[in-house]
Amino acid sequence: MTRPLDERSPVFVIGAGIMGAGIAQVAARAGHPVQLYDAREGAAADAKRKLAASLDALVMKGRLAPEFVQATVARITPATAIDEAAGAHLVVEAIVEQAETKRALFAQLEAVVDADCVLASNTSSISITALARDLQRPGRFVGMHFFNPVPLMKLVEVVSGLQTEPAVAQAIFGLAERWSKTPVHARSTPGFIVNRIARPYYAETLALLQERAAEPAVLDACLRGAGFRMGPCELMDLIGHDTNFAVTASVHEANFGDRRFVPSLVQRELVDGGLLGRKSGRGFYVHAELTVTGPATPPAASAVALPSAARWRVHGHGALVERWLEGLAREGRAFERVEDSAWSGLELDGAQLRQTDGRPAAQVAAETAVRDVALFDRVGTTEPAAGSALAWSASGGATEAWQARAAQCLQAAGWQPQRLRDVPGLVVARTLAMLINEASDAVLQGVCSVPDADLAMKLGVNYPAGPFEWLARWDARQVVALLDRLDAHYRGERYRASPALREQAWLQEARTT
Ligand code: NAI
Repeated sequence: MTRPLDERSPVFVIGAGIMGAGIAQVAARAGHPVQLYDAREGAAADAKRKLAASLDALVMKGRLAPEFVQATVARITPATAIDEAAGAHLVVEAIVEQAETKRALFAQLEAVVDADCVLASNTSSISITALARDLQRPGRFVGMHFFNPVPLMKLVEVVSGLQTEPAVAQAIFGLAERWSKTPVHARSTPGFIVNRIARPYYAETLALLQERAAEPAVLDACLRGAGFRMGPCELMDLIGHDTNFAVTASVHEANFGDRRFVPSLVQRELVDGGLLGRKSGRGFYVHAELTVTGPATPPAASAVALPSAARWRVHGHGALVERWLEGLAREGRAFERVEDSAWSGLELDGAQLRQTDGRPAAQVAAETAVRDVALFDRVGTTEPAAGSALAWSASGGATEAWQARAAQCLQAAGWQPQRLRDVPGLVVARTLAMLINEASDAVLQGVCSVPDADLAMKLGVNYPAGPFEWLARWDARQVVALLDRLDAHYRGERYRASPALREQAWLQEARTT
């Protein structure tokens, strides 16, 4: 049984590092008396001083009331020994990420705290089930996974291990809400929700870099063009390649070496070379000199007219197709409309500019017996910011003239074409498909619900939409087809479609036939 947790419940936070200090702050802000403990002498008192200084700075800027800050800081007391946790109703652990050290700490705590004190760990990668193994009361042990910086990031993953009592997870869920957070329930599986579903965001770009499909700045620009706040390369530089690589390696290892999660040689080389990103001054980018992260500013889209062609056919649907239809009408060009085409895009005098379906342009050219084939990427937003980057590629056999015309068509539609080598699924299409795929597997395996997967990705890593929201705007059959083509192309395990997604594609097919 658990005692109800409210804002009067004493909270004991262990570990006064980045995360522990942030957790102490949000608990104190919500009204709890908080004790903060760290094994390093003086660390808790230092953390409290730093916290007070940073909150005072917000008072100076007029963002916080001085009385509020004083009251918050006054509720935090540095503790000097674990024994001082005796009266706590909740202990939150945020110490070094080592299973044995954490287990030893919890064993020590159980000898000190009441039987109904909830024990929570902020671990980002260690199994909650495994950490609870030696506890006398494993039912009261739960994951409370905050995101950095804790005071600003809304998401908290409430992680249940095999022995966590549902009432304990529910009590922590309710408490997180009262701390002005947005909690989601997660089952204890490698990476929980966010760190697992996010893997392909980095992995696809790293795979493309390994194939030398494009430069980091180009791939970053394309994903920003799809609505992501940061491209994968700049984000990995921010997170630190050592940290990002360690998370990938731990998810890979925890899944018994499933090649779906295999880490990247490109990233390992950066780690081995000490090029860790912003914190070391250089990663994919040289940070001291970094002023522009994307490609050069594009010409205004409106300035670019459609190329000349004797015969225009407009296939299928989509944001670019709509723009081309408008453009053709505006410029008074005659065209044929093929609405129920098997593909979306443009046909100019027999040459094809198609949205990627997961095949490289060379394969499309071979299978359709059309020499001049170019492909464009999936767009994340239908209303791109002026000159948003959009990846495209052309078959190696396409003429120079067709390549120039294809790029012009993309510019005329309002996007800034970014040339990639002829890789399957380009960058946005394959990245979104893989995020949807990972989320589908997570839900299939009972890690989280569909709405919580969306919520977690939007709040935990600031995605512009959740994976299931992207799926709702796409078509499960097309996503599975794209993954199957990537799978056929690379012949590995990475692009294995989730059984849940494949089932959805069949159900969709059954509804429409
Ligand atoms: P940190 O290195 O900033 O702080 C850890 C603190 O724990 C240090 O002050 C250290 O002296 C103290 N400590 C180490 N062993 C101890 C022990 N046995 N007893 C008491 N104190 C001890 O680390 P950070 O980044 O705050 O991470 C803490 C935990 O939070 C880790 O489990 C980490 O995986 C997790 N986490 C970290 C995130 C991040 O972005 N940094 C995000 C989410 C979770």
